[in-house]
Amino acid sequence: MKTISILNLKGGVAKTFTAANMTYELYRRGYKVLLLDNDKQGNLSKAYGRYDAESIAPITKLLSLQWNHADEVIQQTEYEGIDIITSNMSLFGATWNLTKAENENQIERYKDFMEQTAAGDYYDYCIIDNPPDIGLNVINALAVTDEVIVPVKIDEDALEGLDIVEGQIEEAKVFNPQLRLLGVLVTVFQNTDGESAGLEWLRQQGKYDILGTIRYSKKVAENSFMRRPIYEYSPCCGAAQDYKRFVSSYTGKER
Ligand SMILES: Nc1ncnc2c1ncn2[C@@H]1O[C@H](COP(=O)(O)OP(=O)(O)OP(=O)(O)O)[C@@H](O)[C@H]1O
Ligand SMILES: [Mg+2]
Repeated sequence: MKTISILNLKGGVAKTFTAANMTYELYRRGYKVLLLDNDKQGNLSKAYGRYDAESIAPITKLLSLQWNHADEVIQQTEYEGIDIITSNMSLFGATWNLTKAENENQIERYKDFMEQTAAGDYYDYCIIDNPPDIGLNVINALAVTDEVIVPVKIDEDALEGLDIVEGQIEEAKVFNPQLRLLGVLVTVFQNTDGESAGLEWLRQQGKYDILGTIRYSKKVAENSFMRRPIYEYSPCCGAAQDYKRFVSSYTGKER
């Protein structure tokens, strides 16, 4: 099982949209995917129709070590081969409590679960959607991550955010030496002079691998509630085609 974190400290750069649609494309290639919604906003849980505001969320149980068997925290989605650990606001309390507590096991709280799950040899990928900040839940995610993908919206301070993420990954390598920044995925891209110049600059700088470019699509913007993978309601739009192309290039496998 390969674990991928979708991470950027900036809000609204399509982290969740990328997690949701990359997962769908992996599924369409026959891969089994476990989603981990590591954001208290629960947007990924909503995208896969499993959001529950009322109870203590499975991700919260994972972070506060209140689970015995993996089955207790994993839920199936309507897609056979995509399962999810959902989130809601209860994650905030658990993260806060961890911040206050002087606990020696602060950063390896997802580790047992991940090791057990990987040993089960069922999932090919675990995709983690992260919030736009670095709390203990994110540190815990980095402790179990193999590859980080950074969605980036090309604007004036996009690169500043990128350097901060890179620094954070370098620090996390102390407790997870196999962690690596795979590259950036340019998202919500509009072919204006400004954005094209920004993308070109990023390319020429050569510091980060550019894994793909996802076009802005009106269809996505119109469906802001994001209840399904984009390919299912607008397969021809630029964003759907671009996520398909990105995952073909990432896996080396067409569908
Ligand atoms: N390719 C696209 N074209 C048009 N709109 C898009 C595209 N990708 C994402 N969006 C829209 O941008 C908004 C932000 O996306 P998303 O929620 O995935 O960002 P995020 O980085 O997860 O945000 P947050 O930091 O709050 O978690 C959403 O309304 C989404 O529908
Ligand atoms: Mg999000």
